[in-house]
Amino acid sequence: MSDVATPKTPLICDDPRLANALHYVLENSGKRLRARLVMASYRMLCEGPEDSAASAATAIEWLHTYSLVHDDLPAMDNDALRRGKPTVHTVYDEATAILIGDGLQTAAFSLISEDDRLPSDTRLKLIALIANAIGFSGMVGGQALDMAAEGATSSFEQLRLIHEKKTGALIKAAVLSGAICAQATERDMTCLGQFASTIGLAFQVADDILDVTQNSATLGKTAGKDVAVEKSTYVSCLGLEGAQKEAEKLLAEAIACLSPYGESAQPLLNLAIAMVRREH
Ligand code: IPE
Ligand code: IPE
Ligand code: MG
Ligand code: MG
Ligand code: MG
Repeated sequence: MSDVATPKTPLICDDPRLANALHYVLENSGKRLRARLVMASYRMLCEGPEDSAASAATAIEWLHTYSLVHDDLPAMDNDALRRGKPTVHTVYDEATAILIGDGLQTAAFSLISEDDRLPSDTRLKLIALIANAIGFSGMVGGQALDMAAEGATSSFEQLRLIHEKKTGALIKAAVLSGAICAQATERDMTCLGQFASTIGLAFQVADDILDVTQNSATLGKTAGKDVAVEKSTYVSCLGLEGAQKEAEKLLAEAIACLSPYGESAQPLLNLAIAMVRREH
């Protein structure tokens, strides 16, 4: 697979300070798991040109990056370190960080809507899918629930809902975007939807685990943060061992969803394993 997951499209920004901040944020790209998910699910279903899924992959990484910039703001998780570097609001200022997030969000939808390699109805389907995933009933709603649960004890069911929304929804949209670009059948969408919901949840469980098992240098973000602010996490709810078992259980469930695809699912399966058993 070529590295189409690397966002290459230049974003034009007239204000020099905002342009510098944008460069600062985009030069430091993270693991690009969501872009890789788009490409792997596209590739599993179709042999067409990788270009056909490239704008969805890039757009989803921009949306993910926007979510991190806002997640780190003082009004949210108030984090000073991201991807091994000082967060954008600490290097620039809060207003700049808010605008970077806003701009990345709209740029993502422009990119898909203007991609003439995709049929118009495919572009519309992608936009609807992704917009729903990151909106009030998805990621944004999940972030609100996550903030509200700080300092309180959440039930396991409530915590699962928070994780499914704040993190799982965009991961699910990444997998399904690849499928939409591949003109997937309803049956494929159902199978991949189940796979993606499960791996999206498992990914956030792994994030909760890493917060207590790794140091800040390895993570590139502040370790031990969830405990410090009494965040509801799978570790606070189930204990470390219980959370690790749950992550493995979810991984096995996700992998089982790919069984109808045999060998062609291997790259997606490997990615799922990497998302759960990662070290940062
Ligand atoms: C971190 O996501 C934020 C969560 C949703 C838990 P990633 O671990 O994928 O972050 P990057 O993109 O690699 O920095
Ligand atoms: C972030 O969850 C979820 C979103 C950005 C939508 P976390 O707050 O747990 O992510 P990290 O640990 O800061 O990366
Ligand atoms: Mg957060
Ligand atoms: Mg955070
Ligand atoms: Mg976290």
